[in-house]
Amino acid sequence: MDLIAATRNGGKLREFARMLEPLGFRVVGQEEVLPGVEVEEDGRTFMENARKKALTIHRLTGRAAVADDSGLCVDALGGAPGVYSARYADGPQGTHNDAANNQKLLRALREVPPPRRGAKFVAAICCVLENGEMVEAQGECPGAIAYEEAGDDGFGYDPLFLVGDRSFAQLSADEKDAISHRGRALRALCRQLEQKEKR
Ligand code: IMP
Repeated sequence: MDLIAATRNGGKLREFARMLEPLGFRVVGQEEVLPGVEVEEDGRTFMENARKKALTIHRLTGRAAVADDSGLCVDALGGAPGVYSARYADGPQGTHNDAANNQKLLRALREVPPPRRGAKFVAAICCVLENGEMVEAQGECPGAIAYEEAGDDGFGYDPLFLVGDRSFAQLSADEKDAISHRGRALRALCRQLEQKEKR
């Protein structure tokens, strides 16, 4: 089955493809089908945003669509940046800038000692099937925020997000997928899709 991934983020698209394609889905990037279309993320929760993105792409194409909304929730910041993770450094109208986001997070936590640097990544995934039926799943990955960036792989906040003594950007793709919020959410989604096929 073809699934249109409702994202313009290359890092996320690669993760969708590498996890869903072995399960028999062909992942097509939104840009290939609807170039230039931007869906405003104005929901109050990750799932509201994921639902809006997947439903919009499904309505515009009539095809099955999958979307995730994800972000970083930092304990010492009361769960921020949360649903505002992409535009943390830029304010509500800003453009997505990973380097500026990471610098702002480091500054915000400069005085915070190690025991209080806990954080989690959260991913909500919504899949709208061709017939309009929705399947949803959520995944979380606990960790901590480092004092400096480490590692060259991954995207977004990966160089600052520590699981044990390594950052997400120091993990191989397989290692990240096995524990990441998106990996967990995608596997839960796939289990539900498989159940549906059996019925
Ligand atoms: P959105 O889901 O497109 O709104 O983006 C959420 C924000 O969280 C972006 O700044 C992403 O870079 C960041 N983010 C989401 N998932 C990850 C991840 O797995 N690693 C690093 N940053 C992430």
